[in-house]
Amino acid sequence: MKTILELITDKLKAAFAECGYEEKYGIAGVSNRPDLCQFQCNGALALAKQYHKAPIAIAGEIAEKVSSDPFFSKVEAVNPGFLNISISPKALADYLEEMATAENLGYVPAGTGKTAIVDYGGANVAKPLHVGHLRPAIIGESVKRMLAFDGYEAIGDVHLGDWGLPMGLIITECRVRYPDLPYFDESYTGEYPKEPPFTISDLEQIYPYASAYSKEHEEYREAAHEATAQLQAGHRGYRALWQHILNVSKTDLKKNYDNLNVHFELWNGESDADHLIGPMVEDLKKRGIAHISEGAVVVDVKEETDKKEMPPCILVKSDGAAIYASTDLATLIDREAKYKPDKVIYVVDKRQGLHFEQVFRTARKAGIVRPETELFFLGNGTMNGSDGTPFKTRDGGVMRLEYLIRDISAKVLEKMSDRDMAADEAEEISGIVGLAALKYGDLSNQATKDYVFDVDRFASFEGNTGPYILYTMVRIKSILEKVAAAEGTGTDKIRNDVAFGENMLGVTDRTYGESEFGLMLALTGFAESVHKAVEEYAPHKICSYIYDLANAFNTFYHDNRILTQEDKSVQKEWIALIVLVLEALEKCLDLLAINVPEKM
Ligand code: ARG
Repeated sequence: MKTILELITDKLKAAFAECGYEEKYGIAGVSNRPDLCQFQCNGALALAKQYHKAPIAIAGEIAEKVSSDPFFSKVEAVNPGFLNISISPKALADYLEEMATAENLGYVPAGTGKTAIVDYGGANVAKPLHVGHLRPAIIGESVKRMLAFDGYEAIGDVHLGDWGLPMGLIITECRVRYPDLPYFDESYTGEYPKEPPFTISDLEQIYPYASAYSKEHEEYREAAHEATAQLQAGHRGYRALWQHILNVSKTDLKKNYDNLNVHFELWNGESDADHLIGPMVEDLKKRGIAHISEGAVVVDVKEETDKKEMPPCILVKSDGAAIYASTDLATLIDREAKYKPDKVIYVVDKRQGLHFEQVFRTARKAGIVRPETELFFLGNGTMNGSDGTPFKTRDGGVMRLEYLIRDISAKVLEKMSDRDMAADEAEEISGIVGLAALKYGDLSNQATKDYVFDVDRFASFEGNTGPYILYTMVRIKSILEKVAAAEGTGTDKIRNDVAFGENMLGVTDRTYGESEFGLMLALTGFAESVHKAVEEYAPHKICSYIYDLANAFNTFYHDNRILTQEDKSVQKEWIALIVLVLEALEKCLDLLAINVPEKM
């Protein structure tokens, strides 16, 4: 179905054409003066010069032309040449009726038949998820869901850091700790143990220890480099030990991402692309795209128009090791071969911007992706503490994600202490609400900007917060439950039952109350807002929509007694209306990957 702006634009375009003007000027937008009108069109101002006419005169002609259309309640030309537009209650009711019955609330997907890969998460094996991993995970999950909603086959890839020096360090430290294991016995030819020699807590201790130790001890560092090279060259024992590292770590990472409600279609790692690096480098050298510079293999990616320094993209270091950029390029080769994606979107810390610019330019120069493939770097800003630097624990360390979630849930639990609820129920609900507080607090900020993590603000039940949105939804659910109970049926029945029929919103012989009309109008923004959010990979635009919608609902709720409304046909309309509000909110929260409790 068409969006409300498309419907208005169609009518305006026809009017512009009928009055002898170019129709492209008949574009409607949402009014920036909601006190005066709901929608506006500034086309007459843009046209005036070309037609040597006063803009107000043109606007007047258009207003005259469309004002007899029952779709509008008022179209006014105002100085210097704006068109102020309001639509009629009937048009609004018809629109909502269509929205309520259409699939996906009438949203028309734009990506059907196309494939998008979202590279997000970016966790590293053997390292716990910490706050730095929060934003790419939750923004990426949302962007992926938005693209799927838009019709794309959307594939999320965690692109695990599972290769390179960190692996060599762990192997080296394991050799020190467990020297008798068969992985280190060069003469061993039997099968390696099925059970890993370490737990996840061992691993999480081993890696930082080895990393710090190697910085102080050259011999150890060299051993780690050697182990890395041997692992990559296929050393049998190291490969077997590395598999254990991978398995133990992945199991733990999956659990942690699951707790965040973040799920990946692909659990590929840097290692999966490794075998493609050698042939790629050879090919690029042969075609003269890569060349040797100071012993390294590089690709020049500088362009005339560059204002900033743009160093060459290094594919192989002078010591022969492949690096981050070559891995990302090889991964693109793999993705191209397997999925032929129309888009590849990377949700990664914005401080990696230069790396991705080099990778993208090399990929284009080398024809690794098709010219029409979109490569997009969605660089996320950091979550800061109140001191304006990346968020830390009280003692200055890196905060583990699970502790952060625990803290915010505890805050929510504190706020819910006056509820009449069993302790374990309150605990469970505060977990859902706490996570929503964290995710919404993040997603409502523009992805590229830094923001300050403020547990009190995020966990507040008022304002533009996760708990406020959830509370609004729970309130609607509770009304529906009461209605269902009064009618002796279930809420499912109420929700399905309440279609917008002729005897409901179609009835326009009664006038809508101001806040009722406001709520109806707020609902119509669904498709437009989601389209904008998808086009710009901007979950915060979905947050703005749902915040406006929740506010409009709460104003309506404050003004009207839904349960005791005596006119049953009016009550039915109201219920249909709030069911639609709930559905829009549910759809949006699903796009944000935020779960909703039954009560709170
Ligand atoms: N593991 C990397 C890091 O911790 C992030 C990976 C991002 N994705 C990518 N395709 N490079 O910095």
